[in-house]
Amino acid sequence: MWQPPDRIKHVLPAAQWPTAEEAAASPLFTPVALGPRTAQQRTWVPAMVPWRASDDGFVTDDVIAWYRRFAEGKPGVIVVEATGIRDIPSGPLLRIGHERFVPGLTRLADAVREASGGASLLFIQIIDFLAIKRRPPRDKFLERFLEITARHRTLLADHTGDAAIADAPERDVRAALARLDDAALREVLSHREVEDLDFGYRERVTDTHLPHIRELPQVLPGLFADAADRAMRAGFDGVELHYAHAYTMASFLSARNDRTDGYGGPREQRIRLPLEVARAVRERVAGRGAVGCRYLGDDVIAGGNQLDDAMWFGVALAKAGLDYLSVSKGGRFEDAKQPKVGASAYPYTGPSGYECMPTIYSDARGPFSRNVPLAGAIRAAVRAADLGTPVIAAGGICEFHQAQDVIANGEADLVASARQTLADPDWWLKMRLGRGAEIRRCEFTNYCEALDQQHKQVTCKLWDRERLDEPDVVLAQDGKRRLVPPGWR
Ligand SMILES: Cc1cc2nc3c(=O)[nH]c(=O)nc-3n(C[C@H](O)[C@H](O)[C@H](O)COP(=O)(O)O)c2cc1C
Ligand code: SF4
Repeated sequence: MWQPPDRIKHVLPAAQWPTAEEAAASPLFTPVALGPRTAQQRTWVPAMVPWRASDDGFVTDDVIAWYRRFAEGKPGVIVVEATGIRDIPSGPLLRIGHERFVPGLTRLADAVREASGGASLLFIQIIDFLAIKRRPPRDKFLERFLEITARHRTLLADHTGDAAIADAPERDVRAALARLDDAALREVLSHREVEDLDFGYRERVTDTHLPHIRELPQVLPGLFADAADRAMRAGFDGVELHYAHAYTMASFLSARNDRTDGYGGPREQRIRLPLEVARAVRERVAGRGAVGCRYLGDDVIAGGNQLDDAMWFGVALAKAGLDYLSVSKGGRFEDAKQPKVGASAYPYTGPSGYECMPTIYSDARGPFSRNVPLAGAIRAAVRAADLGTPVIAAGGICEFHQAQDVIANGEADLVASARQTLADPDWWLKMRLGRGAEIRRCEFTNYCEALDQQHKQVTCKLWDRERLDEPDVVLAQDGKRRLVPPGWR
């Protein structure tokens, strides 16, 4: 993972855990309405992909155990990981793109309700993403993947001085390209072809020469609405539209989207599809649950959205009737690290990925509450437009006063905590019961994130080797790690 060049090792915010009485009086533990649902407290577990689904996208017992464990901590809201809305193979990522997924998702919703005693609302994050391929070896790219064009022939003729290459059979053109040294090859290939060679082919929302990309605005509202309907029938309390990070909807919102079909360019056009999706989903959900979205307060890439874009989008999304706005940051493909040959680019490996999940090795600002100012500015813009839509902040929130201050200062209406909850799913409950001294504190070194990056079952280094001899412990595929934290005794 990328780290700031001027990094220093920070210390965790000093822990001042509340007594049970102080917790009972804290704004953190007061209810808040999220559209037609009410969260019992302002604590939130944001989406985290744990790589527990079956290879064909179904809920497994491991998925259920994972969310059941979060539910035992009784947070206000748990958001189930990014779940694909299409009926296409996508490895062990949860899917909701067909009726056959509904029974498993129903089992999941029932299990969470039972484990939290009805205290936690359960939402599901629904996502669309575009195709991405592994970085190819040079010879394979030139032999098979590169589409030979007239431009290659002309430039190759210039480079080699062999005019006959202009009309030569394709295999001779490929062979001539393979003989070029790297510098010459890069002059003959287009910018996009060089990217495909260096990083692996990746579709973008601006590839409107491809019919299925051109038609995204016609297709996506229906796919999202169908997925949301399935979530409602499975018993979820809400759906979260994934408009953040590296995926399709965030890419429509991004200032890098220069589509010329009315869905790119100025802000009004970039937000057109996200609003059309929101409208279709709201109509289909029809008050059966909350409909919110997660989006970026800052893309953190050159030419991408910045906070002023996000404030403007926040007002538009709130006006469109979304029941909450959950603010994240970065996590884009554009600045991702070059993958090794045979691996795929991963969107959390560059500076924008760092901003999404900042570590303890940070710049002077440090990782704690790092992204709260984005949520604060978006919330202020939404309130200035006379809209009461709840805003959720995330990023390095891991201590009672820190979390409470976010609410008390009016920077957000709910606080989300991913890694601290992974380190100790009971931390919310421990705070409430005045037993904060027993909280296992996240160290923000991103062992969990490294597992996620390798598509390995995500666990936390603070508990995954603990009490392995307990009965019924389920181990990861490597046989060395337990998959859920031990129970709180
Ligand atoms: C293992 C892992 C998986 C994640 N998966 C998702 C995801 O599916 N959807 C999403 O919006 N964010 C995802 N995130 C980002 C978190 O929701 C959160 O925004 C980020 O970790 C920063 O919050 P934190 O400092 O409380 O961990 C993931 C984070 C981790 C560590
Ligand atoms: S693995 Fe590290 S960063 Fe991840 S939750 Fe555990 S302590 Fe926190």
